[in-house]
Amino acid sequence: MFNSSIGRKLIMALSGVFLIVFLTQHLVINLTSLIPDNGKVFNFISHFMGNNPVVQFILQPILILGVMIHFIMGMYLEVLNRRSRQTSYVVYSGKSGASWASRNMIISGLVILSFLIMHFYDFWVPEMVYKYVEFNPLDENRYFHELQEKFYKGGVVKLFLYCVSFVLLGLHLSHGFSSSLQSMGITRGPIKIATKFFAIIVPAGFIIIASFHYFITTINH
Ligand code: HEM
Repeated sequence: MFNSSIGRKLIMALSGVFLIVFLTQHLVINLTSLIPDNGKVFNFISHFMGNNPVVQFILQPILILGVMIHFIMGMYLEVLNRRSRQTSYVVYSGKSGASWASRNMIISGLVILSFLIMHFYDFWVPEMVYKYVEFNPLDENRYFHELQEKFYKGGVVKLFLYCVSFVLLGLHLSHGFSSSLQSMGITRGPIKIATKFFAIIVPAGFIIIASFHYFITTINH
């Protein structure tokens, strides 16, 4: 599968669609932090996800594996593309009719990777330490407060870095989602339009969540 161009594209497409499913559920869960109930629903879902053995020990490792496969294969494809451009007789001007997003998937991908490293350091690592290193007692009501404090402490610079990453995520999705479906043989017009819509709605949702918590906590402090 790794040796054929179609096989490599299919691996990219399947891991991409898998990450899109994760992203959708991640957005929906985080959107519950906007409900004006003092974090009740958000705490309930976060506690369930954070303590359910299937989520923690099966889905989470699969997710991390999916992220790694997508990034490693993306880098490998980029190297192969660059090599074939160098050996090709056709001079590549980088200015075909293709969009900026489609020509710069590696750039938007590397920004998302950098974001993920920062995001893991902000949220995931402290959570793992809290549960599996320090073995703190279970507290079902801490998640909402922790989320708000993190956006407050990160300041405007962190908010800016998050929002820039979400814009680049949107550009990555605007080409990546429809391209994944195309590799899987799905090419209908309305679906393509739906993928473009998704690429706007999802990053916009994340921008609203991050900005909301930053501004609310800054005003209240
Ligand atoms: C405002 C936006 C976001 C917020 C508030 C947020 C919040 C969180 C929180 C609280 C966790 C820790 C979950 C836990 O382990 O208990 C987490 C983990 C994670 N986030 Fe985000 N996230 C945001 C955006 C994103 C985006 C855009 C991506 C992907 C591009 C992403 C990818 C991940 C991944 C891969 C994990 C680790 C897996 C997991 O524990 O579920 N997040 N996020």
